[in-house]
Amino acid sequence: MPGLRGGFFRLHAFIESVGAYIPDRVMTNDELSKMVDTSNEWILSHTGIRERHLASDNERASDLACRAAERALESSSRPAEEIDLILLATSTPDFAGFPSTASIVQEKIGAKNAGAMDLSAACTGFIYGLETARAFVESGSAQTVLVIGAEVLSRIVDWSDRNTCVLFGDGAGAVVVSRAADHGPSRIAHGFLKSQGSGAEYLYVDSVIRMNGRKVYTFAVKALCDIVDDLLHDVPQGRSKIRFVVPHQANIRIITAAGRRMGLPEKLFYTNMDRYANTSAASIPIALNEIVNNHLLSRGDLILTIGFGGGLTYGGNLIYW
Ligand code: ACO
Repeated sequence: MPGLRGGFFRLHAFIESVGAYIPDRVMTNDELSKMVDTSNEWILSHTGIRERHLASDNERASDLACRAAERALESSSRPAEEIDLILLATSTPDFAGFPSTASIVQEKIGAKNAGAMDLSAACTGFIYGLETARAFVESGSAQTVLVIGAEVLSRIVDWSDRNTCVLFGDGAGAVVVSRAADHGPSRIAHGFLKSQGSGAEYLYVDSVIRMNGRKVYTFAVKALCDIVDDLLHDVPQGRSKIRFVVPHQANIRIITAAGRRMGLPEKLFYTNMDRYANTSAASIPIALNEIVNNHLLSRGDLILTIGFGGGLTYGGNLIYW
């Protein structure tokens, strides 16, 4: 077919559907304060987190990922056989090394025609996944890509360290990315991926999560501002067009500080860390799923997704919904 691979017209990718899965078990700040020397007041005022959900003992990252993926597929009305590629971002894979968690999901959901791989970019993993999906679809190498963020961070949290254990939760989110209609408003228009490996020591996993909170905070606020600037660079009057900024849900104070620095109103930032805490690679698709389920978006609305985390990595996607 002439032009299919970019000769006469350009291919575009868009987010066709979203799904998420949050495990049932809730752990409140009060419950945590019985385990370590902390309080609901401290956690809420320093992070914006009230509670988090935890996977059950028999749930692994692949189980959470499958539930989220099946929901995303259900709302796209696509059979799993139509998926060409599964990209699964996680810092808590079922197995260290191999097989990839993506391959386990591929089998469990019956995506028998799909390639599958895991993606390691910590809390920025979903952003990296979405940008990779865009590249595959725009190049014509894939028509339909399933991008998943899935985490069981409760398995790598040091539950005796109050500096970190209050911050994290478990969950999964997924999107189906596919080829956009030529003249439709919906597309993933631009992506921005960065790494600052000099900061690797500020946030890493050495059997458990270790973090220099102050350093990560300073990095994250600057990263958030840099990403918004980059994403809007080619969008005339971009700020006035934004429907939502969907940041990684690490900490409300990071988001408030960045918003103030950029002069962007707080209501533009979608946040839900009060209920789920920081679910790393899953936080952005979980937030997207909530936004869609609450009917807060119309096709064509401009949203910016923004990630930052271990690596240190950071990046964003400019999306016309
Ligand atoms: N409860 C009570 N006190 C605590 C707790 C807690 N859960 N955690 C730390 N403290 C204490 C510290 O021990 C310290 O006490 P000290 O002065 O007696 O030593 C005091 O609170 C202040 O500690 P700071 O680390 O300076 O607290 P800060 O105001 O910086 O807040 C926080 C800590 C919330 C971690 C902050 O640095 C932050 O938001 N950092 C960003 C890191 C982040 O969000 N990481 C998430 C993972 S990374 C990612 O997703 C990007």
